[in-house]
Amino acid sequence: MCGIGSNLMSLALLDKFRSADFVGRDVDEMSVLAAQSNFASLGLDATFEMGCSEDLPFDDNSVAMVVCEPPWGLRHLKHSDMGSRLKVWVLEWMRVLKPGCPAIIITICTNRIESEVIPLVRQKFPGSALDRKWAYENYGFEQCTCYMLRKGTGP
Ligand SMILES: C[S@@+](CC[C@H](N)C(=O)[O-])C[C@H]1O[C@@H](n2cnc3c(N)ncnc32)[C@H](O)[C@@H]1O
Repeated sequence: MCGIGSNLMSLALLDKFRSADFVGRDVDEMSVLAAQSNFASLGLDATFEMGCSEDLPFDDNSVAMVVCEPPWGLRHLKHSDMGSRLKVWVLEWMRVLKPGCPAIIITICTNRIESEVIPLVRQKFPGSALDRKWAYENYGFEQCTCYMLRKGTGP
């Protein structure tokens, strides 16, 4: 769900992440090509690949950070489908995340993530917690919220 790479690019520009390996994945070929081009234009290094977020090519507990902006249910997916897919995606991101590390998820599906997905994450990955969340004000539209989940290190 890297899309054109905007979120990853912000991180890749920071000194703190200069030596990090960035991997972006998206089902949409045009987005992957755009992400590659955006990174190249700034001389940044990353691997972008086409693929689904439901089955990531990473071992359990192997990734230091996940940054994701799931579809808003407009161009890429029907909003009604978010109901079934969001929890599958988030559980997969939590699976690959190293214990103690953060998943940053930007979504408008606030009710679903709070009432259904986060409780499931806490159940499947004991000790996991919502570190913090913040809503973006956008001319009165405040549904878009960033959630920072931290994977637990055990019960
Ligand atoms: C809200 S956009 C991401 C915006 C992103 N921040 C950017 O810079 O473009 C959501 C993205 O999720 C992708 N997507 C939808 N379903 C997906 C899936 N099952 N696995 C991976 N990516 C998916 C879409 O192709 C789209 O690029």
